[in-house]
Amino acid sequence: MAAAARLVSRLTLVTGGGGGIGRAVCQRFASEGASVVVADADQQSATETLGSLQTGGRGQGHMVAVVDVSSRDSVKKLVTSIQAHFFQPPLVCVNAAGITQDDFLLNMEEEKFDRVVQVNLKGSFLVTQAVAQALVACGASKGSIITVGSIVGKAGNIGQVNYAASKAGVEGLTKTAAKELSRFGIRCNCVLPGFISTPMTDRVPEKVIQKMKSLVPLGRIGEPAEVADVCAFLASDDSRYITGASVEVSGGLFIG
Ligand SMILES: NC(=O)c1ccc[n+]([C@@H]2O[C@H](COP(=O)([O-])OP(=O)(O)OC[C@H]3O[C@@H](n4cnc5c(N)ncnc54)[C@H](O)[C@@H]3O)[C@@H](O)[C@H]2O)c1
Repeated sequence: MAAAARLVSRLTLVTGGGGGIGRAVCQRFASEGASVVVADADQQSATETLGSLQTGGRGQGHMVAVVDVSSRDSVKKLVTSIQAHFFQPPLVCVNAAGITQDDFLLNMEEEKFDRVVQVNLKGSFLVTQAVAQALVACGASKGSIITVGSIVGKAGNIGQVNYAASKAGVEGLTKTAAKELSRFGIRCNCVLPGFISTPMTDRVPEKVIQKMKSLVPLGRIGEPAEVADVCAFLASDDSRYITGASVEVSGGLFIG
């Protein structure tokens, strides 16, 4: 099927939809015909994303939802509101909400460790569980859940003990979900971005960016659209025989 039509009729929930990678995912999915729920803790950035989405006249309707992925109640309300609005649960979910709160292991405060794990790992768990429960309850014949891990979850990264641990957890969560949900036709895969140019990495000092760049075999920082391309593939039937996979989108950074 032509890429431009691969995601027609695939209602998609994107958490972190107001952020760099999440916004690129929303735009790519909308351009391929999906209806998109742009979910984020930051209503303003989510609304900006919504305003940038194609509608294409293929029965598409997009919406914004404010959510805190680390809160069970908030996630439940989100899935309920999607079902009320579209009369169906999302068939595709991309978990792109995430935060960093960096420090060295020797200085890392417990609160910073807990918060990063709550948003990145527990948030992915709560959203994945709520979407999977809704899909199974309505008897959907297939679904695709995509989590966003990180290459540093495999390789570790100085100053990111909390973040690297949370992202390693996301990979384990995704592989387990893939094993448990395959009998319902739900595929679960993880993308592992390397160093991508977004508001998250805008905070990284230039010196560190240059050092990172020098470590990337393809010789440059990645673009959010390059992560979105892989998510669109994993959401579509082009990846119908792929589940439990982790796809590195890192320009070769930390090839293992
Ligand atoms: N940029 C990179 O180099 C890179 C590399 C590897 C992995 N990632 C991962 O990709 C994902 C997207 O990152 P990004 O670079 O686009 O960052 P970003 O900061 O641009 O976007 C993250 C979004 O998540 C939202 N968010 C934060 N906490 C939330 C919460 N509790 N509930 C709902 N939304 C919340 C933010 O408001 C923001 O819009 C994250 O999971 C990040 O860890 C990014």
